[in-house]
Amino acid sequence: MFKIAVLISGGGSNLQAIMDSIEDKYLNCSIEFVISDREGAFGIERAKSHNIKSFVLDRKSYGNTLSDRILEIIDGRVDLIVLAGYLSILNGNILERFKNRIINIHPSLIPAFCGKGMYGIKVHEKALEYGVKVAGCTVHFVDEGTDTGSIVIQKSVKVEDDDTPETLQKRVLVEEHKALVEAIKLISEEKIVLQGRKICSII
Ligand code: GRF
Repeated sequence: MFKIAVLISGGGSNLQAIMDSIEDKYLNCSIEFVISDREGAFGIERAKSHNIKSFVLDRKSYGNTLSDRILEIIDGRVDLIVLAGYLSILNGNILERFKNRIINIHPSLIPAFCGKGMYGIKVHEKALEYGVKVAGCTVHFVDEGTDTGSIVIQKSVKVEDDDTPETLQKRVLVEEHKALVEAIKLISEEKIVLQGRKICSII
């Protein structure tokens, strides 16, 4: 069974999409851990309601030892780490131990509107300010940079003239749920190969 750990910081709608896809048997995976970097993340309630082992590791108390503590919990127990609305930056040994085994979902078509400080509603504000006609989301591998890892999947949405950051965010989030689950499926079924930084699907 392909085992995953899901890292969150908020509501956990992406986590819920993964749980639903496991329940629907679209994903043949098990979520071994859900870890939040802050108190009060509703995603922890979602995990508890599904009897998934969960941890709240307050980023303020752990500081730059947070990534090491996460590694202690999951090392040797999961095949993939999924960042699903996780807002702390992973650093240190975990990046080496889980090289090309950490994915993140970002609410823009990388390399647009990404990098340091670009997360949540701010991404959609910048996209609308710029006047893009197409927005979307990206699932990418996590490396030592911020939103710089190889791209696994992208999904686009048309930007409407009357879109607000909130309406655009809502439509992109729907695509995030699909993209994240599809990326986990491709990886768990070993259907992708890395050629340099480019990722190709193998049928
Ligand atoms: C989503 O917009 C995701 O793109 C970003 O964090 C947000 C949180 O989503 N990374 P969730 O409902 O907590 O999964």
